[in-house]
Amino acid sequence: MTTGVCAFPKIASARGGEYGWGMLVLGIETSCDETAAAVVADDAAPARRIRSSVVLSQIAEHRPFEGVVPEIAARAHLAHIDAVIRRALDEAQVSYRDLDGVAATGGPGLIGGVIVGIMTAKAIAAVQDIPFIAVNHLEGHALTERLTGTLPFPFLLLLVSGGHCQLLAVEGVGKYVRLGTTVDDALGEAFDKTAKLLGLAFPGGPAVERAARAGNPKRFALPRPMVGRPGCHFSFSGLKTAVRRHVAALGDTRTDQDAADLAAAFQEAVAESVIDRVGHALAVFRARYGGTVHLVVAGGVAANTMLRDRLGAFAHAKDVALRVPPSELCTDNAAMIAWAGIERLRLGLVDAMDFKPRPRWPLDPDAEPALGAGVKA
Ligand code: KG4
Ligand code: ZN
Repeated sequence: MTTGVCAFPKIASARGGEYGWGMLVLGIETSCDETAAAVVADDAAPARRIRSSVVLSQIAEHRPFEGVVPEIAARAHLAHIDAVIRRALDEAQVSYRDLDGVAATGGPGLIGGVIVGIMTAKAIAAVQDIPFIAVNHLEGHALTERLTGTLPFPFLLLLVSGGHCQLLAVEGVGKYVRLGTTVDDALGEAFDKTAKLLGLAFPGGPAVERAARAGNPKRFALPRPMVGRPGCHFSFSGLKTAVRRHVAALGDTRTDQDAADLAAAFQEAVAESVIDRVGHALAVFRARYGGTVHLVVAGGVAANTMLRDRLGAFAHAKDVALRVPPSELCTDNAAMIAWAGIERLRLGLVDAMDFKPRPRWPLDPDAEPALGAGVKA
């Protein structure tokens, strides 16, 4: 990565106040189907750091296709990015001149959208003569809990989103050790595919969660993927196939109650599988780092109330401090990108104008590939 030590005088000379270094950063997020911009400051207590956070969802544009269409997403980002940034600045009551840096998602994600965000951020940085920071979207999720609270390194991270499902030891900014990943589908992807099988609305995760509330999790027997196996990897494609078989067996007479019962059974299987994997990762983490363990859950699926509750009970039983960001900061947003930008700026980690958007960008590039078909980084 073309990251260098920062040559900007204000940042190089900052010494830090009670809470931070008095920095104000604009964040831009365009890696999937939300066009988002936020202004975040590090000069206040965590609860008051987010000065504005604007998220424009493209759900309506993608709904007819029951999934995110990359070309439609890129065009929509281009159409709305300027207005979304304008609104973020207005709501924060700041102007471009007040900014100490501009951070944008540099990947991983849908490349057309990432290019829109990165080009916009570079233009602002060039005109204002302020640092440009390309943020790994996954690092944005990973560090969110440090934006809204005080959380020391190292911590154990369960990152569960639409494209990723990983367990990581977070040793510091830019320092990740991957303990486990999925050998097939990401967890959010499994929720989305299950929703489709059950005929539920797009986007799938929240729809499965809603349907499951009225369901009986015991009516259908579903497998508990990876439970009891060594290691920390995940697998969800077998679970999805099992749901498909039940849906096929129910045939055309499938009722809303059938869908609710299957959704509840799916969530139950997911929770048991995830908790088994986290248990293994916890043992590895404790052996390696010792001390009080903070378990952070981040990414869109961390918005799932049932999973949050189950992980809460697990953490309590294992004497672990569970930390989950507020739901609106679990799903994609730009405040997390601005915050990761601030964390990098504090370390003098800025990017050059020749940074190239990255469709793939693993947090731990040294991690061994997981065994299995269609491995995701
Ligand atoms: O982090 P995110 O907003 O975007 C990515 O970086 O992928 O995660 C989106 C994923 C989608 O798969 C969505 O269905 C899932 O998070 N999701 C949920 C819930 N809210 C969002 N999954 C389960 N329960 C939810 N409440
Ligand atoms: Zn995300």
